[in-house]
Amino acid sequence: MGILFEDTKIGSMELKNRIVMPSIGCFFTDDKLKNFYIERAKGGVGLIFIGPTGIDENEPSYVNIYGDEFISELRDLAKAIQVYRTKIGLQLWHPGRYSFFPGDHIVSASDIPAPIFTRQMPRALTIPEIEKIEDEFAEGALRTKKAGFNCVEFLAATGYLISQFLSPITNKRTDRYGGSIENRMQFLLEIIEKTREKVGDNFPILCRISGNEFVEGGNTLKEQKIIAKSLDDAGVDALNVNVGWHESRVDQMSMMVPRGGFVYLAKEIKDVVNIPIIASHRINDPILAENILKEKKADLIAMARPLIADPELPNKAKEGRYGEIRTCIACNSCFDDVFNGVPITCLVNPAVGKEEEYKIKPVENPKKVIVVGGGPAGMEAARVAALRGHNVTLYEKDDRLGGQINLISAWPAMEEFANIPRYYLNQLRKNVEIEFGRDVTQDLIMRQNPDVVIVATGASPSIPDISGVDRDNVITAFDILRGREVDGKNIVVMGGGGVGCDVALFLAEKGKKVTIVEMLGKVGTDIGRSTRWIIKKRLKEAKIDIKTGTKAVEIVEGGLIVEEDGKRGFIKGDTIVLSVGTRSNRGLYDLLSGKISELYLIGDSSKPRKALDAIREGAEIAREI
Ligand SMILES: Cc1cc2nc3c(=O)[nH]c(=O)nc-3n(C[C@H](O)[C@H](O)[C@H](O)COP(=O)(O)OP(=O)(O)OC[C@H]3O[C@@H](n4cnc5c(N)ncnc54)[C@H](O)[C@@H]3O)c2cc1C
Ligand SMILES: Cc1cc2nc3c(=O)[nH]c(=O)nc-3n(C[C@H](O)[C@H](O)[C@H](O)COP(=O)(O)O)c2cc1C
Repeated sequence: MGILFEDTKIGSMELKNRIVMPSIGCFFTDDKLKNFYIERAKGGVGLIFIGPTGIDENEPSYVNIYGDEFISELRDLAKAIQVYRTKIGLQLWHPGRYSFFPGDHIVSASDIPAPIFTRQMPRALTIPEIEKIEDEFAEGALRTKKAGFNCVEFLAATGYLISQFLSPITNKRTDRYGGSIENRMQFLLEIIEKTREKVGDNFPILCRISGNEFVEGGNTLKEQKIIAKSLDDAGVDALNVNVGWHESRVDQMSMMVPRGGFVYLAKEIKDVVNIPIIASHRINDPILAENILKEKKADLIAMARPLIADPELPNKAKEGRYGEIRTCIACNSCFDDVFNGVPITCLVNPAVGKEEEYKIKPVENPKKVIVVGGGPAGMEAARVAALRGHNVTLYEKDDRLGGQINLISAWPAMEEFANIPRYYLNQLRKNVEIEFGRDVTQDLIMRQNPDVVIVATGASPSIPDISGVDRDNVITAFDILRGREVDGKNIVVMGGGGVGCDVALFLAEKGKKVTIVEMLGKVGTDIGRSTRWIIKKRLKEAKIDIKTGTKAVEIVEGGLIVEEDGKRGFIKGDTIVLSVGTRSNRGLYDLLSGKISELYLIGDSSKPRKALDAIREGAEIAREI
């Protein structure tokens, strides 16, 4: 690892390496916020941005800087981070029409409502109001400096107020702030000018800009390059190149975006400026980061979710411990939390937001612990129990770790999931006895005489009670993802939840003609908000026929009899794929009940849910025993 860990500079600010944790609206406050970021600073990141930070009391955020009263708490945070030679910046923000709260306060460049969030009509700002907000940004920047932060960043991307001025789709003004691109930039350039006057020459100012708004009629890379060049000329010290707006219908964040897929935007902008450029999005691997720098496509690398998933990523990469990295799989559970207005969680890292309470506490009297099942729940339980000093054996009836995760990662679009068992295998082989190919029975457990048994036997496909379900042409979604060949061209997937959608896409990619039959009015209702629209878009592109509000009544030769609005119909299907949920495998737990003093049931074997719940429960139980 060469360039990634070279020291570098942004303006006068010296950085110990080129890894930047960009702002993430994590919704933690007080000690939780501090502990979350201390953990990341300890992990070796060079620069952290906190935000988005409210500069206007009408539009508060979970961190604010619109008054002097916020300075002291932010100063404590800055000091706590800087102990680790990590620099800290504050990202200043105004949501404009992207306000999260309905009300009269919603303003924008012009009176055009956002197609997302409150969708409320904003009021076009008057010139005195524009000047007031510019002053608020500049005063926020000065307070940032007073709080001991090392730099400030303006969020001029993602569709928030500054972007609303920059973009022709949201700025229809006819005064000096609207019309030509030069006029549309005026608001941002005045903010920079006023800020520079207040903070002086030696305090770095950064801007987070979009590389392309990815909104029809909006600024493309061509216009963004002009904006970048003007910001360089205006004395901005570095540009953090983001991707599109929240309302873009271009996938920017999901695991279906190839790793480093938007680095080209940073590179194109780098070519027209003389200041450092930060590349962003889906750079979850330090080797990829190193190559981006080596190929001179950017000067620094932003890692947001990768550092949520593993705060120690920088130190591990620096020491060459790549296999130990808990890789972000871009499942977007954190992003979904933001849109639901709750503190973030992480599928692969249950310690997020619990940095203090989840510190590993060694046990005084190690116990003999048996974990049954090497899915996410069992793997995390075994990892933590062994780290605490227990003697842990994990039994898995398959020949590899992962459980249902191995089914998900069978679909190439979801292969990031394979990082979960990869990580655990590396961890568990250090201090856990793993027995593969062992279908655990009550007898086996009783012979071992353990102190603790954690049952994490997962779930199996539910089989609906309809006529014809035992025919030869009926298989489960699990069978397909396990590699079973599917007969015929026409396939009917019964059940349009997340798994049904995944398996339908998997089959369509193999050239099958797929129909999804779903009883509810919509498909994909259990998929997170930030990914659901992408899956739906892919279903449409793959020409998958979706029959909602349709009940499967009987499986017959050559297809499925259904009922819709009380009327019977027939859907042609050479193979019928069942994807109607799962049921817990709790037989072993029931057999052991009353025979083992410390017996626990976790993950899907307790109740079928998500991998996030399974890992969280594994993490919790292993801290209790
Ligand atoms: C296609 C698909 C897509 C999914 N998509 C997502 C998603 O996007 N996000 C999400 O969070 N979740 C998703 N899930 C759900 C997620 O995979 C499960 O919630 C999670 O794997 C449950 O973990 P677990 O450890 O409880 O059980 P499992 O993953 O089922 O693991 C249980 C393990 O126990 C082993 N076992 C069972 N009985 C025994 C025994 N007697 N002896 C030894 N070993 C035994 C099994 O072989 C298995 O390895 C998806 C699931 C599928 C199938
Ligand atoms: C939970 C969450 C909150 C975010 N909040 C912000 C924000 O406040 N400001 C910002 O510029 N970007 C925000 N982003 C975008 C990230 O900074 C980053 O650009 C994005 O996650 C893609 O990079 P990654 O693949 O390294 O995560 C947020 C992303 C996530 C996941």
